[in-house]
Amino acid sequence: MDYVDVVLRLPLEDGACDILKKALDIKRWSTSALSSASGVEWARIERILAMGDPTPEELAGLAGTLGLRIEPLLAIQAGWRPGPRTLPWLGICGFATPFLDWTVNSFVVWDPDEGTAGVVDTGTDASPMLEFLEARGLGVSHIFLTHGHSDHVSRLQAVRERYPNAEVWHGVEEQVLCTDGRVVRAGMEAAIGRIRVRVLETPGHTPGSLTFWASGWPEESAGVAFVGDLVFAGSIGRPSHSYELLQQSLHEGILRLPGETLLGCGHGPYTTVAEELEGNPVVNALL
Ligand SMILES: [Fe+2]
Repeated sequence: MDYVDVVLRLPLEDGACDILKKALDIKRWSTSALSSASGVEWARIERILAMGDPTPEELAGLAGTLGLRIEPLLAIQAGWRPGPRTLPWLGICGFATPFLDWTVNSFVVWDPDEGTAGVVDTGTDASPMLEFLEARGLGVSHIFLTHGHSDHVSRLQAVRERYPNAEVWHGVEEQVLCTDGRVVRAGMEAAIGRIRVRVLETPGHTPGSLTFWASGWPEESAGVAFVGDLVFAGSIGRPSHSYELLQQSLHEGILRLPGETLLGCGHGPYTTVAEELEGNPVVNALL
């Protein structure tokens, strides 16, 4: 079965105006506060946020006032896209399943020679992933959960029914996910055949959010970090737990991985560490 990795082709999770809204939320500013600080009329700001139609000058002005990096935000408004168009790695496949008006990602990582796989999150419909695993005759030894939000884990039972011996790994403070899962901490490693999957604790979006960093493919690639909703191509996840922790997880954790490390995000397309350092308006921003 030939399978196209749909995550490669997803649109960005957040457009430029979505990022403005996130920045407003993070700063706890109202649109009238933004109007006073930027000199842009309140009604115009409301329209920009509703319609997504700022001029480059308006967008640059609002970004600068909010502390976002201006050039990357202008590039996103102009159609910037990150990441590879094809995956050089054998042994990663992404799935996008429906969630409200958008989609949520889940992934399979596997060692093609040993026939063993790990699953990262389940999405809202596990059937594409289960069909994929079955068609390749892969066994699943681990189910890695980035965090407990229902769009990412709602099909956990379906995956466990098919692979009852798979260990479920999840973060501290995400125990509600299942009663017999394993709470894992930073530095723990799982082996999926020859692939090593290392746990990084990356709180911020939720208290127990984890990143699973897979490396060790024979061709010596830098590997792929499954980051959940910590960071998206060109944006960040909603810091529902703590913005400070999210920034710390991002700058002291994920963005210190090798630049070519592929990021498999919870929503939107793949990106890389290098591309986010260069092209993400929230990275190294002054929010
Ligand atoms: Fe989430």
